[in-house]
Amino acid sequence: LNYLTPKTRKDVLETLIKGLQRLEYRGYDSAGVGIDSADGKGIVLVKKRGKVQALENEILDNGEGLAFDKTEDIHLGIAHTRWATHGVPSEVNSHPHRSGEENDFVVVHNGIITNYKEIKTLLIEKGFKFESETDTEVIPKLIKHIFDQHPHDTFRELVEQVIQQLEGAFALCFKSYHFPGELVATRRGSPLLIGIKSQTRLATDHVPILYSKDHRPHVPERGVLERRQSTSEVHAENAPVEYFFASDASAVIEHTNRVMYLQDDDVAVVHNGALSIHRLKRGLDDTHAREITTLKMEIQQIMKGNYTTFMQKEIFEQPESVVNTMRGRVCFDDNTVVLGGIKDYIPEIRRCKRLMLIGCGTSYHSAIATRQLLEELTELPVMVDLASDFLDRSTPVFRDDVCFFMSQSGETADSLMALRYCKQRGALIVGITNTVGSTICRESHCGIHINAGPEIGVASTKAYTSQVISLVMFGLIMCEDSIAKQERRSEIIRGLKRLPDDIRTVLAKDNDCHNLAKELYEKKSLLVMGRGFNYATCLEGALKIKELTYMHSEGLLAGELKHGPLALVDSSMPVIMVLTRDSVHTKCMNALQQVTARDGRPILICEIGDTETMKFSSRCIQVPHTVDCLQGILTVIPMQLLSYHIAVLKGCNVDCPRNLAKSVTVE
Ligand code: G6P
Repeated sequence: LNYLTPKTRKDVLETLIKGLQRLEYRGYDSAGVGIDSADGKGIVLVKKRGKVQALENEILDNGEGLAFDKTEDIHLGIAHTRWATHGVPSEVNSHPHRSGEENDFVVVHNGIITNYKEIKTLLIEKGFKFESETDTEVIPKLIKHIFDQHPHDTFRELVEQVIQQLEGAFALCFKSYHFPGELVATRRGSPLLIGIKSQTRLATDHVPILYSKDHRPHVPERGVLERRQSTSEVHAENAPVEYFFASDASAVIEHTNRVMYLQDDDVAVVHNGALSIHRLKRGLDDTHAREITTLKMEIQQIMKGNYTTFMQKEIFEQPESVVNTMRGRVCFDDNTVVLGGIKDYIPEIRRCKRLMLIGCGTSYHSAIATRQLLEELTELPVMVDLASDFLDRSTPVFRDDVCFFMSQSGETADSLMALRYCKQRGALIVGITNTVGSTICRESHCGIHINAGPEIGVASTKAYTSQVISLVMFGLIMCEDSIAKQERRSEIIRGLKRLPDDIRTVLAKDNDCHNLAKELYEKKSLLVMGRGFNYATCLEGALKIKELTYMHSEGLLAGELKHGPLALVDSSMPVIMVLTRDSVHTKCMNALQQVTARDGRPILICEIGDTETMKFSSRCIQVPHTVDCLQGILTVIPMQLLSYHIAVLKGCNVDCPRNLAKSVTVE
């Protein structure tokens, strides 16, 4: 901040904390800030495990040490609220991370660095000592290493060298006591914007981009504040501007509605209150400037983007969340799959007698969705159980069993009890959760983080598809040495590669789902029927309808239709049939005809262009064709959208359905 009016250090901290509170929905297991020390000679870090409130309390308790009352004209502070991807939530794992005990360079990071292990090994060889288990910590240490080699490079040049070494996704803010009054921020894959607040109208509504090759390298004198004049600076001298760097606009909107979105590999520098944007190289489609736009949104709206509820946002996030689940794990060039969290246990898992998949609610359905594929790829018996029932039966468990615990939150009491039960009996425990550091994570021997990002809507959507992909990746690893399965593996990996685009195609059918919802929302009951790989979609689809719309709904195995449920079918009972072109298509068609023969009017979820199947229904939602074992990911999304729209039409609370909780920590 280059203040419009001088502010106290307490104001600085309040601005940072307020910003974090606005971003807390993105992550809330620990938080931290980095500000200049009161004497201006170093950087102070304050970090705390838990909610941002815990950090705020810590700061308020230490007003004197942080020199709250000291007034400053300019201050560059950084702050972060964390959603763990590597390492449990703890003070030491929370951001800002630092180059060493001196706090020379400090960094906050949003995203995942997938090649951090290689960088860490190199830095350890160079003598760096790591204090956290995070991927982020390699960044401040790497910049320090480069700085030691090139002490005359500018801060920006150092950051540019760092990001050339990084793989994965990141939005980063750097601060260093070697470069007082200067902050460098950059992004690739993760969002980053700059809020710009000025008392007077800005002289420009865009910031020109400077390319490194156009920029004469200069050798700054250390410790001397250098005022760089460049055409890209937003403001004229004596017209102070405050800059707010943030992952999204919710953190800045109370200060300003003028924002600029950075593009991948942009490097933004604020130096003594002047902003400049740099890029390493010119690309063919590069523009010459980044535009400053004016937001016209309310804060709630910004948090949810253009969506009205978190659930809707999470449904539409799936093209990205499935990529995050696979990021750094599936290599599409050479068909390799690596899951770092279970790698060392794979030989033991290969020797086991049985796989057991255990969970509750939607997580249980992800196990049903992948059971058939795991049986096929591992050639092991696969048992799938609801945690509560598994315990009620005192199911026999042996030392040579491998038990998978599926849980978005990692805290569900039934699943946790079942985990402890299996652990006591000597089985190998694999946790599959969306919450690093959760109890299930901590109590498992090994595991897979599904990395879908925080899921806020009580009804699980993106976590489900990411759980399915996690188990598919596991199956692919289990058969990597089998020559007979190579073709199947390649087919599945090709399907995984296309998945984000296929999901986008399904999401584009939102309007069809909305129209269908208008037809169905006043009905009393809804049956969802299918078989094979689509059976899980029926169970999960019916659960979504029940949870969100309070309408009775049942997921039925089409093969069981004639053994009872057919009695429910008449001209007024809505029946959704999930019918894709896989090995059970013909059998499913039989069920469809049994329904139409009883005056039923089935609604189809079928493949795009499958006119043959579509003949049997007047209404259908079409999804792209993919490999059979991934088809359930594409067929479940119309059910997510349908239940969402029915809930809205019925005036139900979409994000917090009555009587339900996101994480059920009682048995
Ligand atoms: C609760 C939620 C469900 C969820 C289930 C399992 O019932 O309302 O949406 O599927 O718990 O939760 P978990 O966190 O273990 O996946």
